[in-house]
Amino acid sequence: MPRNLKAIVFLAEVIVLFLCVAQAQKPAADAADHDWWKHAVFYEIYPRSFADSNNDGIGDLKGIDSHLNYLKDLGVDAIWITPCYPSPQVDFGYDVSDYEDIDPMYGTLKDFEHLAHDAGKDDIRIIMDFVLNHTSPQNKWFIDSASSRTSAQRDWYIWRDGKGSGLPPNNWTSGFGGSAWQFDPKTGQYYYHFFAVGQPDLNWRNPAVEQAMFDVTRFWYQRGVSGFRLDAVDLLFEDPDLHDNPVLPGKNEFGDPNMENKYNDKLPEVHTELKKLRKVADENNAVLIGETYTSNRDELKEYYGDHNDEIQMPMDFMFCQVDKLSPADFRTQIANAESTGGWPVYVIGNHDMTRSYNRYGDGQHNDQIAKLMAGMYLTLRGTPVMYYGEELGMENNDPVRKEDVKDPIGIAGWPAEKGRDGERTPMQWNDSPNAGFSRATPWLPVPASYKTHNVASELNNPDSVLQFYRRLLALRHHEPALLDGDYVALNEDNANVLSYLRRYKNETVLVVLNMSNNKQQIGFDLSVQGFPSAKATPLLTTLAAPPTGQLNQTALDPFAVYIARISQ
Ligand code: GLC
Repeated sequence: MPRNLKAIVFLAEVIVLFLCVAQAQKPAADAADHDWWKHAVFYEIYPRSFADSNNDGIGDLKGIDSHLNYLKDLGVDAIWITPCYPSPQVDFGYDVSDYEDIDPMYGTLKDFEHLAHDAGKDDIRIIMDFVLNHTSPQNKWFIDSASSRTSAQRDWYIWRDGKGSGLPPNNWTSGFGGSAWQFDPKTGQYYYHFFAVGQPDLNWRNPAVEQAMFDVTRFWYQRGVSGFRLDAVDLLFEDPDLHDNPVLPGKNEFGDPNMENKYNDKLPEVHTELKKLRKVADENNAVLIGETYTSNRDELKEYYGDHNDEIQMPMDFMFCQVDKLSPADFRTQIANAESTGGWPVYVIGNHDMTRSYNRYGDGQHNDQIAKLMAGMYLTLRGTPVMYYGEELGMENNDPVRKEDVKDPIGIAGWPAEKGRDGERTPMQWNDSPNAGFSRATPWLPVPASYKTHNVASELNNPDSVLQFYRRLLALRHHEPALLDGDYVALNEDNANVLSYLRRYKNETVLVVLNMSNNKQQIGFDLSVQGFPSAKATPLLTTLAAPPTGQLNQTALDPFAVYIARISQ
């Protein structure tokens, strides 16, 4: 064989060998990768408000792309992007007119592919928001469905005759105010919409709807998406006989009678459907995050599925229901989340609720309290889902005049309900006008606090909320006890200080959080945990002079965070 040819054959053999080894390693890597979301930190991005690359006042995908390095440095592993599909924006994207494209205001499918590619290079995964309960009336499915009573897709939505002249089919009210039924004069029937009139509910009892929606998930899985956040998943099914809901005393913020949504919320069929969705997700090594408004532990447990065959990450809003700094209440909710057998998920804010900075802040120590909250939800056993700007101490900027309100809930419910604009304001990048979000007037105004609470200023301040988050997330990613350790509640009768251990093999980390505005003295007897003379080595703390060694009488400043390694 000529020398050149020999060399080529040798090189080819080396390449084949390399490919075989790489191939042989792949399944193992995938298996290890399977539960990637358990160690990940998720970060919710409201794309209208994150970064505006084309200066039209509305954020976009290129804006997100240009800030991936910020997210990487912060310690984010996955971004959940709220809906960016084509939409008339009646509910800011939660009214989808085409599930398989990107709204031009956010960019193009190519921009999405770019973003996915760039995020992949930074090891950041992308989670899409899947609005599966309802579409926009401008969706081609609804256009066909509304075209005649005999149209091919008539049964893709929930159409019914009224009860009589001007009377809807039953007493169900919309979560956005008024009746949940909209009369369509063209076909003489009503369609059902749990949310706005511009959000008709899909009929999930129709197998064609199910198939079409499963195919939507496949479309995005093929484009590199690592999972979905399932929007309003409790509401997928309705009683086919349309029984009236029981009416409760009083009226809600829209002036409608209070009601128990017995026949249109949390029907058992939801769980059957989730199992099927999960199968498709499993085929794609994807994670499902549920918008599951559970009010108790048993409900939460159900969403994981008896055989862990439903949602891997039901979002634990029970935690958000604790609206004060109450160690006892947090202990209870942590114990609830711990007891389901599923992997806990912790959230302290999102685009539908007042920012945690305002909910927990006392007006004087808000930055310190923001660190305290981080010290809790980022050190618990489970996966945290952050909300953009939480790491800066971003605060709500609620509208003060009805004419400024953009959110349909605020428009319908003003003034009792001011809507959700306040928690959706532009990300605060620096102290230039509009917080560096856009050179145009942003779709919502930034709060005055952007001058101090912004990425650029906080990066320059070692004591900022942002620097605390960065240090905490770095610690979380590297401490086996914080990643995988058991949660062990300590000093459970203490009304002011929440403390616990995280234990994994030989690693033990102590977390101590003073939830009060007073100095506290606290001691720890860890002999039951196998540390008769425990010694602490601080890992991260807000205390100027953190205690080391034995923790018999430890002094904690108001709202202090103290995280330490424990050894014998
Ligand atoms: C979910 C979303 C919310 C939206 C609603 C209707 O609750 O989080 O923003 O308005 O669903 O899609």
